[in-house]
Amino acid sequence: MMERANEASGVASMSRQDEPCDAAPGEHNWLRAIAANELPEGHRRTVVVGGHTIVLFNSQSRLFAVDNRCPHMGFPLDRGTVQDCILTCHWHHARFDLESGGTFDQWADDVRVFPVRVEDGALLVDVADRGDRRRHFLRRLGDGLERDIRLVIAKSVIALLDQGGDSSEVMRAGLEFGVRNRRDGWGAGLTILTCMANLAPWLDADDRPRAMYHGLAAVAEDSDGHPPRFTIRPLPGGAADLATLKRWFRRFVEVRDSEGAERCITTAVRSGAQTPALADLMFSAATDHRYLTTGHVLDFTNKAFEALDHGADDLAEPVLASLARSYARGERMEESNEWRNPIDLIAICERAFESIPAALEAGRRMPSSAWSGREELATVILGEDPQAIADAILSALGAGGSLAELAGTVAYAAALRIARFHISNEFGDWDTAHHSFTFANAVHQAIQRAPSAELLRGAFDAAMSIYLNRFLNVPAARIPTVNGAARPDSRELLESLPALLDRQQQVDSAGALVAGYLASGGDGAAMIAVLGRALLREDRDFHTIQDFEAAVRLHSYLGATPAGTHALVATARYLAAHSPTVRAQGQTWNIATRLHRGDRLFEG
Ligand code: FES
Repeated sequence: MMERANEASGVASMSRQDEPCDAAPGEHNWLRAIAANELPEGHRRTVVVGGHTIVLFNSQSRLFAVDNRCPHMGFPLDRGTVQDCILTCHWHHARFDLESGGTFDQWADDVRVFPVRVEDGALLVDVADRGDRRRHFLRRLGDGLERDIRLVIAKSVIALLDQGGDSSEVMRAGLEFGVRNRRDGWGAGLTILTCMANLAPWLDADDRPRAMYHGLAAVAEDSDGHPPRFTIRPLPGGAADLATLKRWFRRFVEVRDSEGAERCITTAVRSGAQTPALADLMFSAATDHRYLTTGHVLDFTNKAFEALDHGADDLAEPVLASLARSYARGERMEESNEWRNPIDLIAICERAFESIPAALEAGRRMPSSAWSGREELATVILGEDPQAIADAILSALGAGGSLAELAGTVAYAAALRIARFHISNEFGDWDTAHHSFTFANAVHQAIQRAPSAELLRGAFDAAMSIYLNRFLNVPAARIPTVNGAARPDSRELLESLPALLDRQQQVDSAGALVAGYLASGGDGAAMIAVLGRALLREDRDFHTIQDFEAAVRLHSYLGATPAGTHALVATARYLAAHSPTVRAQGQTWNIATRLHRGDRLFEG
């Protein structure tokens, strides 16, 4: 005969959910834990029931069954303190409501509690699986993003992506959060997240969740302490056609009216415009002024479109609208001294832009694949004559070079600046070379999405910024070459890279290693995966991540050629210059991984 707990042992019967917010009704699996009289008032017992280690409490004449593993970092909760039905863990003092398992400390997590009852003198625990695990960890990911708690983000990502989970779901969570919770709109965090999502296919499978952790943690950090942003509604009735909206958008950006510009974006999206048309609208304004905010405006816009490619095109309205403010506030190089003096680069660009239509027309009359002047054009771009640079780009266009080929060549020249960056430069100048490269990469990617004469202006901007950076190659570091007669073993080189990057400033050695590996027949994809792992073990550096992602894109475009090798040499050098870091973020990831495996962290 079944008896109520208070009838059997003087305590009230409990009916609880195992996961307080997510639990759903389901099958029961009541198992005997102990005899009810083995748990008198004020006592606790730790038992293993159905494979679960559970601590039973009798507190204030009520029975409770709690998973003995603290959800924060796994400390045994049977060593905790109970006061007024609140259990406090003794490691970091997280507090839990014994009834529901809910925590009062968001960095911890709710602990699982089990329904308890007394029947025929036995204390029974219901260990049936309940709760929607995916939903729970999506909610916890939201908690981590809102409160910028790295460990919570890491644990959620690991749980959600365990056994090949869908990374587009966590990407989407970060994207939605990031564009709504930072008044200044799209920033470094969302750019890192998108870089990581782009890189995922190049990484080893077990590094992909870690990449998403870095991206999501960057979004949380970037939004922390910022007021939210509220998207401006589209014009009523979806008024105005796309050509008009494009004209208005550029005009509003010109006069630095971010709200008017944003309304054009939201109206264009709501009118049903397709991605290439939206991209054309935005990239035209991003190149109406020269090298806007050191290239960030176009770079971020390109990344926003790439983010939508990850199964999130329905988020186009809030994502693209989040860029409007950066357009209106953009720093225009027309107003900078170095673009005006001693040589007026703006005037050179503007004269060249007038010649683009004629050059395009001439190029159209050329047979396809007529142009093969990448190396020659890159050499001119790396030279000392900005007028010759503009002329060479126009000449290549007229000779049949496609927009993508020209933009790709400019990106290659920018990568060569990094490949030849001499370590006698000031350390901060890595960033100078980096900005030209990631901007050039953005133009290259964007022009494949939405080719236009307007966007080609970005390639001229990138080329002029590469020209301005020429001092970074004085003296020039020698790009490593490998004598075919003395090729080292490629596997050995690949395996030695992580140890090399454990030491500071192994810039030239890292470049030589990559060059040697590829020259010995090593697989570029395998090198990218190893470099990616080396990147992920470091603390996040915005520029290093951007640089690596851009180099991978460039290498992918150039293939197994000397130019493709230069792309990876450049990024290996950049990574080596910025390694090693303290690796604190990696420590958090390792803790989360060990917890997920069930390791006992408190034992070392
Ligand atoms: S509070 Fe329990 S392990 Fe940290």
